[in-house]
Amino acid sequence: MTDHRDYTVSMHYDRRLYRQDIAGSKAHAAMLARQGIIPPEDADAIIAGLGRVQDEIERGEFPWDAALEDLHMNIERRLTDLIGPAAGRLHTGRSRNDQIALDLRLYTREAIADTVAGLRNVQRALAGLAEQYRDVVMPGYTHLQRAQPVLFAHHMLAYFEMLERDIGRFQDGAARMDVLPLGSGALAGVPYPTDRNAVAAALGFSAISANSMDAVADRDFLVEYHAAAATAMMHLSRLAEEIVIWSSREFDFVRLADEFTTGSSIMPQKRNPDFAEIARGKTGRVYGHLVAILTLLKGLPLTYNRDLQEDKEGFFDTVDTLLATLAVFAAMLPGMALNAARVESLAGDSYMLATDLADYLVGKGLPFREAHGVMRRLCRRCEEGDRSLSELPLSEYRKFSPHFADDVYAITAAASVAARDNPGGTAPNRVAEGLARAQKILAEAER
Ligand code: ARG
Repeated sequence: MTDHRDYTVSMHYDRRLYRQDIAGSKAHAAMLARQGIIPPEDADAIIAGLGRVQDEIERGEFPWDAALEDLHMNIERRLTDLIGPAAGRLHTGRSRNDQIALDLRLYTREAIADTVAGLRNVQRALAGLAEQYRDVVMPGYTHLQRAQPVLFAHHMLAYFEMLERDIGRFQDGAARMDVLPLGSGALAGVPYPTDRNAVAAALGFSAISANSMDAVADRDFLVEYHAAAATAMMHLSRLAEEIVIWSSREFDFVRLADEFTTGSSIMPQKRNPDFAEIARGKTGRVYGHLVAILTLLKGLPLTYNRDLQEDKEGFFDTVDTLLATLAVFAAMLPGMALNAARVESLAGDSYMLATDLADYLVGKGLPFREAHGVMRRLCRRCEEGDRSLSELPLSEYRKFSPHFADDVYAITAAASVAARDNPGGTAPNRVAEGLARAQKILAEAER
């Protein structure tokens, strides 16, 4: 049976914010004393007491009490036990509404830093694979049909670019949320001569919030984290899906390290790509939390409403899920062995050169649409005869267009790749540029 009184308790999950809560309280107490709002000796006692509280929490000795509902009340009660009535001065000029808004911002700021570091690690692994297999040509796909040969490195660097945009999204969010909400009080501001800018500086914020009502009601920064996390998970799920497909016997493009596959309990031959599958699956819960926070905020009147307490569990789960998924990819990718012989042989599939052959005819003066038609008819003929384009004698080619000559056989996968030499294309020198760009970004991020 559940007790109805448990319904409002948040202590078992908001205790995760204890470091942020204590840091905010210390900065607030110091400011109150500097402004002559509370006696300096009380502020000293509060700050020392909060240090003891933090030690107790970290040693697992803190007497958490669910009857006190949340983290804030637990800490305040313990502080009173430790230092006496002076503890009662800490909450001067503050409300739990601006306090929780502060704690969440401090937590999100750290979460963004950790997330960006995790994304960088995956980028590093992707650039490493691009470097390791820099010359390998593989089939590139559209509609999951072999389309045109590309460099494997080009494929890996496509993911590097996606994650680069993800990092940009997290950084944009970090810049927008870099505002201290403390000093907003319950909603209207506080009737004390506080120095909000000093608190902002002490806690590493670049600015203070401009409107107290907005500051206590705002959770946009959580929405932005969720949205960026959902997008990053979407990207990772696409890579996960490719890894799943590529490690099937049908494709046989890659082999994952043993520690990233599991056998079946009854089928001894299996090497299941479980980590990639679970990453693909976990994307769903991160999307769910995004929809949940948007729905939580929808239609909420100003300012603080207790509904907002429900903003935390989904957020923490999204942070945990994304960081864990990034750690998995950073560990899994470097040990993913590419079956270069296999992908190169498939890249030589002459059907994928059909576009190049059409371009060849364009080079001989044919309009592209006409050349495309010639090649479509030629491919159909080859399919009927179960022959590849490269096996076709020149006499056969010439039945479809008199423009075909001996040099048609010079069109190979390698030539096709090399021909895509415009910026952003898959030609080896262009991919080398892409890799250099990636390495430069990573080097700059390390400084
Ligand atoms: N536990 C609350 C939350 O997470 C803290 C703020 C409570 N404020 C209040 N007026 N009851 O949102």
